[in-house]
Amino acid sequence: MSLPLEGIKVLDFTAVQAGPACTQLLAWFGADVLKIERPGVGDVTRRQLRDIEDLDALYFTMLNSNKKSLELNPKSADGKEIMEKLIREADVLVENFAPGALDRMGFTWEHIHKLNPRLIFGSVKGFSDGHSYSDLKVYENVAQCAGGSASTTGFWDGPPTISAAALGDSNTGMHLVIGILTALISREKTGKGQKVAVSMQDAVINLCRVKLRDQQRLDKVGYLEEYPQYPVRADGEFGTFSDVVPRGGNAGGGGQPGWILKCKGWETDPNAYIYFTIQDHVWEPICKAIGKPEWANDPAYMTPRARQPHIFEIFADIEKWLADKTKFEAVDVLRKFDIPCAPVLSMKEIEESPDLRATGTIVEVEQKKRGKYLTVGSPIKFSGFKPSITGAPLLGEHTDEVLTGLGYSKDKIQQLREAKVV
Ligand SMILES: CC(C)(COP(=O)(O)OP(=O)(O)OC[C@H]1O[C@@H](n2cnc3c(N)ncnc32)[C@H](O)[C@@H]1OP(=O)(O)O)[C@@H](O)C(=O)NCCC(=O)NCCS
Repeated sequence: MSLPLEGIKVLDFTAVQAGPACTQLLAWFGADVLKIERPGVGDVTRRQLRDIEDLDALYFTMLNSNKKSLELNPKSADGKEIMEKLIREADVLVENFAPGALDRMGFTWEHIHKLNPRLIFGSVKGFSDGHSYSDLKVYENVAQCAGGSASTTGFWDGPPTISAAALGDSNTGMHLVIGILTALISREKTGKGQKVAVSMQDAVINLCRVKLRDQQRLDKVGYLEEYPQYPVRADGEFGTFSDVVPRGGNAGGGGQPGWILKCKGWETDPNAYIYFTIQDHVWEPICKAIGKPEWANDPAYMTPRARQPHIFEIFADIEKWLADKTKFEAVDVLRKFDIPCAPVLSMKEIEESPDLRATGTIVEVEQKKRGKYLTVGSPIKFSGFKPSITGAPLLGEHTDEVLTGLGYSKDKIQQLREAKVV
């Protein structure tokens, strides 16, 4: 089956997560992705958090499937020449080195653009060009802090908190995919490549849009009616409002209040919970579902405004109803009443979920030397094709193939290898 990005050549000069997540998606959609790695060393994630000694770590294999690997040191004269040949033939080059690292190698955007004016150059940095922090190296959690996520995540009586979701890393990679595909479409019209830059801070801020909404509402009215802090309680149990968006615990971010509620077994199972949303227009079914039909027409419960002052008492009553139901049993009842809810799933439950295997979201991959492992497959489902996930390349697995393709002889390749250029 022909894949949409077939024929698009991507030079994947990336490491760790943000860059590799971007190029991996391009590879799944059919692009020919060549990972360029430091000779004898490779992407640092090959060796990070190994579960099997001497084998590429899952950190690497789960972010570099469907790619090829070339060992190359573009800092050497021969390496530079090879890199330039590759750039001339490529459609896309993606990098996520520390600020200035690629320039120091001699590959400024201006030089790359001159070598191949049609090439699209994708770049990830911690902060955007022109930002006073643009010289900083950045990892995931640094970006979550700088992007407003940490200050608004967690509980009011605890410190700023990091999300487990890779909002700084993979999320930035996904933003870059959108930028690269847009630039490819633009190239169809203009014939010209361009630089596409995404900063990790910006990618996080883009997902914290509703928190900036809340800051502006807070600036105007001094409170946020959907937060646990509202109304301000004398005992300060849920904290109070200041002039910055508070941490809202597990509150729903929209106009529909929700919370994580205990189910049967919560005393021993850390994930025996569901997320329960009180959607206003299904209030009557909610009352029926949880055995409180009298709430439906009670003025103290009938409207969101009437409920909000005692929303935690309502949640406590719903928890009483949940006490003899597992999270799965509870959802099975609530779904019949059209109530937005879901069990809190552990990673083990996600690992073993037949649903996620059936949808192709969790897939088993065959990896050279390692054997089978699980990865997250394409979260984007197409009617015209299904990305098939293959293994990640061993370090330098395709060095000979690529150099032969560029016209280098066996002897020359051997020489380059001895000089540690490849
Ligand atoms: C992730 C990050 C913090 C890692 O920093 P680091 O481990 O110091 O790695 P760098 O990117 O600085 O690269 C280290 C060196 O390896 C060199 N290098 C990389 N690939 C090479 C190769 N194939 N051959 C020779 N040298 C290579 C770089 O040129 C750099 O050398 P220099 O600093 O002497 O010029 C940093 O790359 C960064 O901030 N990147 C941008 C934001 C980002 O993507 N963050 C990570 C998200 S997962």
